[in-house]
Amino acid sequence: MSDRTHFDPLGELRGALRPPADKSISHRAAMIAAMGEGETDVIGYLDAADTRSTLAAVQAIGARLVHELPTQAIERDDGLGASRLRIAGVGLRGARSAEIDVGNAGTLLRLLPGWLAGQPEGKWILDGDDSIRRRPVDRIAEPLRQMGARLGAREERLPPLEVEGAPLHGTTYELPVASAQVKSCVLFAGLLAEGETRVVEPLPTRDHTERMLVAAGAEIARDGTTVIVKRAERLEPGRIVVPADFSSAAFFIVAATIVPGSDLLLHDVGTNPTRTGLLDILRRMGTEEIAVESRGEEGGEPIADIRVGHSGLQGCEVGGADVPLAIDELPLVALAACFAEGTTTIRDATELRRKESDRIATVCDALDALGGRVEPTADGMVIEGSGGLRGGTIDSHGDHRIAMLGAVAGAASREGVEVIDMGAAAVSYPAFEADLHSLQHRPPLHDPVH
Ligand code: S3P
Repeated sequence: MSDRTHFDPLGELRGALRPPADKSISHRAAMIAAMGEGETDVIGYLDAADTRSTLAAVQAIGARLVHELPTQAIERDDGLGASRLRIAGVGLRGARSAEIDVGNAGTLLRLLPGWLAGQPEGKWILDGDDSIRRRPVDRIAEPLRQMGARLGAREERLPPLEVEGAPLHGTTYELPVASAQVKSCVLFAGLLAEGETRVVEPLPTRDHTERMLVAAGAEIARDGTTVIVKRAERLEPGRIVVPADFSSAAFFIVAATIVPGSDLLLHDVGTNPTRTGLLDILRRMGTEEIAVESRGEEGGEPIADIRVGHSGLQGCEVGGADVPLAIDELPLVALAACFAEGTTTIRDATELRRKESDRIATVCDALDALGGRVEPTADGMVIEGSGGLRGGTIDSHGDHRIAMLGAVAGAASREGVEVIDMGAAAVSYPAFEADLHSLQHRPPLHDPVH
């Protein structure tokens, strides 16, 4: 029997919450803590399926969890509380051979091999679920081989991926597509390679790896579109703080924007500008109901509280540099566009076809099934604003972001939405349903938005 979850239309969404910890930053925190000397405290590590895969992977190669999940709670000044994970690293050159199950985690599949490829010895096999087995690894194999790595993949491009430790040398690699995962993989390899390694980005992508490695003592510099990393002898991360995930907050940012009468406050959200393209897109669509109040920086990552209210929207053009800055939020842009006046066009987003599902197909199918007017194109989609969505049934296809898109669509729809396989949300946001329901029937927040 398939798992079906019904989401009724909701009146206004009100209240405050802290979305879960950032998935991208948590993956990097576990890997960089494992590369480190001695013990690293990770404050607020994401407890979700994907990041459990990463913790299991770093343990398989020899890192030790000093505190097991569920992690020890610590008090914070703002009273929100956070978990603390203490990881004892193996050092930059101390990973031991293992078979690694990456589960559904594409970031683990693409980043970890960069580190393993430069080990003095050892052999690793990385494999995962059905979705992972469709996700290309040739994009990392090519630059790593250029650096001297020994790798093998099914049909030269798909997992399982085999990696053997080998001496690496620095290179200059121009990314054919803007991908933070590929950039990060090459930077990890660059820590172990002779000389200097340069990665040239066609467009800016998320830079959490660079920020975290600098904080751990690595020599990383940027020259325009090029990121340069030098060989390192050791890393000392010490302490890594994980903000709330902008990509998880994004479901509530769009929900509040499209459900009339809403007013939400999202605490402690990571607002690294390489992640917040959705805010720029929504502002271009006409909302003035989003206010971002800085709460400073932790570990080189900016953090803010975000207040969002309902707003009318107009269609807009999305493409070029927008795409990597909002790559995981483009499904939500398509949902918002159904509630806008006029046409929204998303271009230059072929990469969406290579995510946990083919998100051009799964988003268009989902919105179409709910009464939206959306046409897929080779590199994106065209959405005609239809003044809202009727409702209906959608299939998440095991993709966490499609499952949560369906739930938000249900809240904003006229008749409600049934989501097949809502359980997929546990990949990044196990408490999503509970958090969504907690925002109903709440008293107004005190001050107006702004
Ligand atoms: C990620 C980068 C993005 C994003 C993915 C996480 C990361 O992928 O879609 O969810 O953590 O580096 P690409 O950089 O490959 O587009």
